[in-house]
Amino acid sequence: MIGLALLAEVALLALLAACSTPPVQVHAQRPFPDKLSAWNLFVGDMSVLKPNEGVVPYGLNSPLFTDYADKLRTVYVPPGQPAAYDPAAPFDFPVGSVLTKTFAYGALAPGAVGEGTRLVETRLLVHTAEGWVGLPYVWDADRKDATLTLAGATIPMTIPTPAGPRQIAYGVPNANQCKGCHESHGRTMSPIGPTARNLNRDDPYAEGSQLARWVALGLLTGAPEAAAAPRAAAWDDPASGSVDARARAYLDVHCAHCHNPDGPGNTSGLLLGADVAEPRLLGRCKAPVAAGKASGGLRYDVVPGDPDASILVHRMASAEPDVMMPELGRSLVHEEGVALIRAWVAEMEGGCAAQP
Ligand code: HEC
Ligand code: HEC
Repeated sequence: MIGLALLAEVALLALLAACSTPPVQVHAQRPFPDKLSAWNLFVGDMSVLKPNEGVVPYGLNSPLFTDYADKLRTVYVPPGQPAAYDPAAPFDFPVGSVLTKTFAYGALAPGAVGEGTRLVETRLLVHTAEGWVGLPYVWDADRKDATLTLAGATIPMTIPTPAGPRQIAYGVPNANQCKGCHESHGRTMSPIGPTARNLNRDDPYAEGSQLARWVALGLLTGAPEAAAAPRAAAWDDPASGSVDARARAYLDVHCAHCHNPDGPGNTSGLLLGADVAEPRLLGRCKAPVAAGKASGGLRYDVVPGDPDASILVHRMASAEPDVMMPELGRSLVHEEGVALIRAWVAEMEGGCAAQP
């Protein structure tokens, strides 16, 4: 009898647990919900960022710099509908998929985010029948939820940086600015990070290969063994690749969504994707399309062996609106990223034709 009662109790508890964590709710039409909690992507106390069933945290080999913010990324696909593997482009996620990226300052262990972490914003990319939609949610001061802020926001705050605390005006992009970076290939809104090269690494949140785990969890189909898939270096880990490999991984994630043949940066003729092999397309001894202030009076995008004479370095080392590259998404210079690109240019051999 006791056994049966216990069983009944266990069943009841399981039922209660199931009821208290409703499944992910994909809102595929306007108006999109005002609160992040309405998506059920995170369950329980929102501020600890505990992913719901089917919502999987992931990491990249080389992530985008955003004013030294810490980031937590998650992926969700509709049950039974994995994304299709592609060796070169971001994976093809089915309608109903939701990708998230939370920006914060402090530790971001999923389900265990502490009070010391400053939660700033959670961005959603939602694949609707009409295409991908970008939604910025800004965290409420009480950390209980985040609120849809389509107009974006400027949040003054003091942040930690490797060089000590800095006062910044943190910029939450508006829904239109998402397109500035995410409308890259073919000028339609799409994800950027989930590529084979950038996901092919040890899973930062579980044992083993991240690609293999995506396949095992039903997130991805058609992927080869991890060893047969392309792999980007981690920009800040010398053990992961040469200066050249790390610089190219950095440029790929920071620049190639605009500097590709179909992107908004293609007018410059400078192509910075990981697949580009032609040195001239990568800026070597290439005169800029527009001279003037943006190029700092310098003659070439990249002068082998001379970072100080290279426009590419000059524009990365700037935080001025008409000069800085990337032109969106940061208010500070990424000093460590600039240092890597300087090292990359410095070790190149040769030079460019002297001034006429
Ligand atoms: C400065 C360029 C830029 C802007 C502006 C931008 N993003 Fe992104 N976003 C990226 C890059 C690059 C990645 C991939 C690298 C990473 O996650 O670190 C990314 C990743 C993401 C991801 C994770 C999935 C993916 O595509 O890799 C989401 C979700 C996302 N962005 C949403 C948004 C939303 C919503 C907006 C507008 C409110 C926005 N982003 C604005 C550049 C940008
Ligand atoms: C949001 C889109 C975008 C991103 C991201 C971006 N760029 Fe650009 N870039 C442009 C556009 C548009 C131009 C042409 C207009 C101009 O020169 O300002 C350009 C021009 C340039 C030029 C001048 C090239 C020439 O030959 O005329 C350099 C150098 C450059 N970008 C470097 C970079 C680097 C390095 C990164 C990444 C660290 C980067 N850009 C990221 C859009 C972007």
